[in-house]
Amino acid sequence: MRAGSGRPPAAWAADRVPAGNRWAAGRPILGAVEAFRIVGGARLAGEVRVTGAKNSVLKLMAASLLAEGTSVLHEVPDILDVEYMAELLRRLGCDVVRDRATRSVSITVPEVPHHKADYDLVRKLRASINVLGPLLARCGEADVALPGGDNIGSRGLDMHIAGLERLGATVRSEHGFLIATRDERLHGATVWLDFPSVGATENLLMASVLAKGTTVIDNAAREPEIVDICTMLQKMGGQIEGVGTSTLVIEGVEALSPTEHTTVPDRLVVGTWAVGAVMTRGDITIHNAVAAHLEIALDKLVRAGAIVDEVPDGFRVACHDRPRAVDVVTLPYPGFPTDLQPQFIALNSIAHGSAMVTENLFEARFRFVNEMVRLGADVRTDGHHAMVRGRQSLSGAPVEAADIRAGAGLVLAGLVAEGCTTVYEPHHVDRGYDGFIDDLVRLGADVSRVDV
Ligand code: UD1
Repeated sequence: MRAGSGRPPAAWAADRVPAGNRWAAGRPILGAVEAFRIVGGARLAGEVRVTGAKNSVLKLMAASLLAEGTSVLHEVPDILDVEYMAELLRRLGCDVVRDRATRSVSITVPEVPHHKADYDLVRKLRASINVLGPLLARCGEADVALPGGDNIGSRGLDMHIAGLERLGATVRSEHGFLIATRDERLHGATVWLDFPSVGATENLLMASVLAKGTTVIDNAAREPEIVDICTMLQKMGGQIEGVGTSTLVIEGVEALSPTEHTTVPDRLVVGTWAVGAVMTRGDITIHNAVAAHLEIALDKLVRAGAIVDEVPDGFRVACHDRPRAVDVVTLPYPGFPTDLQPQFIALNSIAHGSAMVTENLFEARFRFVNEMVRLGADVRTDGHHAMVRGRQSLSGAPVEAADIRAGAGLVLAGLVAEGCTTVYEPHHVDRGYDGFIDDLVRLGADVSRVDV
């Protein structure tokens, strides 16, 4: 999208466009009033293949800024957030070209990228804060508008800022922008994170790979997406030890080279399909899925009554009876992922028995509960706990998705509700799920995208 055109870039629009992603067909990205219409009662059965993780690929795209030249990413999902990040990189002076047939994107980075990321794009995409670290390292200055993204509560940046300051940056907030500058090269330092923040770990990794000397990130996040970006940075020439642990040791280098990298599979999309199989008493084989990335969530599903079997490139989830309710407590990886919490509330709402769901990361994620109540669910919240009493059935109703995962949870609930459910604000789901509606239809659901 060139500035002001209101259309996706020609390089994307000219390619084959899957039926489920109408935003990519040359239509305006924003402003269309659409909804998902779901007629409940179908059983999900069949095979589905998952692409690369949204929460990884956006950061990998940002990481490409660290080296002049062309980096190529594979298994790039066809989602709105990737489009926003591509546009952000274009505005920073990069040439971004996507090949839909091979699910790849190539990013050509100039010798000196621009260093300003404006609010009109940044507000749509929380992950745009991830250009802060690489721009600061490469350009000596980064002006990044304070981000928006999911509507899931306050999402501080204090650890990003404190960490960059430890590396020698000066960071100030001015007119809605975070402005980070450095004098010479950033320098290595030990950074203790109060909490294993995914975004702060990524920004500090990308800033420190080009810093002078050794950086230690203590209490670092350990998500598979963090391992993925570490692997890409290593291929670019970054010196990182402790990958996958909570202590990352980075030996800064003078320069990095562009690289080619395949994005880690999206464990949150995989988890959503797994919950869908259990809720609909279905049978789904999920390809390009890593069971080890979802250990706790899969264990919960087995306790709920699921049968999980590994297949060569993923696993199969089946459930024959009404699921049993399971308690869930969200925690940083390897704990239970907050991004699967709404889907598990949906599951518990039709399960046998009662369960407590505890949300420790994003307080506003329980806003979704009000929509579940509209569908007839018995859920009561108290602070960061939600008590869910399973009901025999839900009852279809119009509901609104407030964020990506809430949208996914509502779609799953609609699949098992009696009658018709309309999920408004479906663009949230499009931000994170590649071809979701097409896959649901293939698996047997009665789901369509309608204009309302
Ligand atoms: C990423 C994911 C999101 C996921 C989350 C936790 C992306 C684009 N998003 O979000 O889907 O739910 O990890 O797994 O990858 N915090 C602070 N100060 C900081 C940084 C974070 O207070 O400087 C707080 C946040 O407000 C939040 C918690 O820490 O309550 C977790 O945030 P973080 O791990 O940074 O998540 P994100 O990177 O924003």
